Amino acid sequence: MSLGVCYYPEHWPEDWWVRDAARMREMGIEYVRIAEFAWSRYEPDRGKFDFGWLDRAMDVLAAAGLKIVLGTPTCTPPKWLVDAHPEMIPVDEQGRPRGFGSRRHYTFSSRAYWEESRRIVEVIAKRYGHHPGLVGWQTDNEYGCHDTILSWSETDLKAFRDWLRRNYQSPEQLNEAWGNTFWSMEVTDFEQVTLPVLAVTETNPAAKLDFWRFHSQQVAGFDAMQCEILRAHSPGRWITHNFMGFFNDFDHFAVGDNLDLASWDSYPIGFVERFPFSEAEKNRWALTSHPDIAAFHHDLYRAVGKGRFWVMEQQPGPVNWAPWNPVPKRGMVRLWTWEALAHGAEVVSYFRWRQATFAQEQMHAGLNLPGLHELSQGGREATTVGAELRKLGALPGTRQASVAIVYDYETSWITRIQPQGTDFRYYELVFRWYEAARRLGLDVDVVPPGADLKGYRLVLVPSLMHISPAAEAALAAAEGVVLMGPRTGSKTRHHGIPPGLPPGPLSGRVGARVLEVSSLRPGLADKVKGAVKGSVERWRERLDTTDGKAIATFANGDPALVIKGKLHYLAGWPDATLLASVIKHVSAAAKLKTVALPEHIRIRRRGDLTFIFNYGEGRYTAPPGLKPVLGSRSVAAQSLGVFKSTKA
Ligand code: GAL
Repeated sequence: MSLGVCYYPEHWPEDWWVRDAARMREMGIEYVRIAEFAWSRYEPDRGKFDFGWLDRAMDVLAAAGLKIVLGTPTCTPPKWLVDAHPEMIPVDEQGRPRGFGSRRHYTFSSRAYWEESRRIVEVIAKRYGHHPGLVGWQTDNEYGCHDTILSWSETDLKAFRDWLRRNYQSPEQLNEAWGNTFWSMEVTDFEQVTLPVLAVTETNPAAKLDFWRFHSQQVAGFDAMQCEILRAHSPGRWITHNFMGFFNDFDHFAVGDNLDLASWDSYPIGFVERFPFSEAEKNRWALTSHPDIAAFHHDLYRAVGKGRFWVMEQQPGPVNWAPWNPVPKRGMVRLWTWEALAHGAEVVSYFRWRQATFAQEQMHAGLNLPGLHELSQGGREATTVGAELRKLGALPGTRQASVAIVYDYETSWITRIQPQGTDFRYYELVFRWYEAARRLGLDVDVVPPGADLKGYRLVLVPSLMHISPAAEAALAAAEGVVLMGPRTGSKTRHHGIPPGLPPGPLSGRVGARVLEVSSLRPGLADKVKGAVKGSVERWRERLDTTDGKAIATFANGDPALVIKGKLHYLAGWPDATLLASVIKHVSAAAKLKTVALPEHIRIRRRGDLTFIFNYGEGRYTAPPGLKPVLGSRSVAAQSLGVFKSTKA
């Protein structure tokens, strides 16, 4: 458990490096991530290398006792490379090529770019792979940032056709899978396939879903290519990638399979601006962030990293990229750091050491003031955490939670391809279910579909549109209570309606079929009464129960919550009241001990430690039975307490 920082030696005079490194160590920083955007600096022209500065920077950092994480530079291909391979430029959905001058200006379909990436990763892996200061690698930087997974260029079309050839063998099989007889879309040759974009009206959803899968698999493949080279030339070093929250355009679990540990970039206040919260909620959380937003991602990336994760970039003050970028309330940088550790992070690394005085991100805070050797507010809070960590010593390991929530990237794509109701946003649904569980004081593990559900008392499936055989088997073997939400099982692998109606392969287990679905515009809702109370909004299904039992119904008597054995099916998008009521009900059915927390308080356990986080105003008194090991029983606003049970 320790701290890290993202450092750009190439941004500062060389005679500052020694002092910077010494000051990092003084404040308890152990890790430093460098060089992920430095390609043009060490290869100003193809094959002409200038590694002197990076050699010296690595030596200075290592000499200060810092452990180095080196980024591969493939996020920022230099101009000479783009000029040599113009076909690598991605094209947006409107058919416009995306320009040079920022970053991520490549499409994963470009073989030439793969070859250039392979070459440069090998060069740096060979040069630095054995450096005594090097402990790990970061591949690329934030796959998916700035909407860069999907691309609609000629290069993509060619690669997509090849992918289809491999997956379908014959045009007849493709026609069959996609349902191309509809609107005369059949092809007699793979060369006739066009990209599912810019047609007169909606293009075939099955084609779009495959196009998404194709791109997602490319990302995992591109990453695997880098990992293979790094492992070959840099033995004994681990590999991570820094994912970004709410970037759902590719399957993060698939990339995670390449890695030794996951990491992610936590900008809680920026996320509040970007998440579809109501205006009232945005105002409520503008200066602190919402108490579940970083937490949700910690739990997600713990799963992506198969138990191991870092925060690679922690917001240290205002960012520069949201519509509004306020200074976080005093204490929040410390709170976010501890929150990550409470959720199992091994290291929290701040972005960035010093605020830049030039270029795109000059309005983005750092641990030091712009161009100075002087700590910012965030820098002072990080120093406090460094001291607290030294005092507390190693933290115990993270245990399996009692609640699992299934997170599925394909469901995100399917609901975007054919939303049916414009506000049916999958990630929002999952986030709200997660929030409801955590409002009851529960710890939650995020799991991919098909994961082993052994040991979970409660499994939440907010929606899982296509149920793969693996996901079906895992749900069938679940030991705990299972709650499934709207549209679960409503699509086949090729985006069709499943035989026997939704929830498809689970109909028998749920004891119900979905006869009709209705998306509801804002203002429309349907009341639910019975074992749970509240309303559905946005989405409402009409179920026909076979041997399932309706324990709550809509006003007209239609089933709203159906149960068969341990399986529950909720026939709509619950409003906050209904969601709280349903999660409480299933938690009780799972015999979980819950506590109704105020909206600004969250609890998280790590081993035998209990952490309490206070995102609100005013103090919060820890429940009886806990003695503080950090802070006091009365937890101040924008602060936290760490406790042990008095019973132990
Ligand atoms: C991240 C990115 C960093 C920096 C940061 C600013 O998404 O990885 O390079 O741009 O945002 O908040």
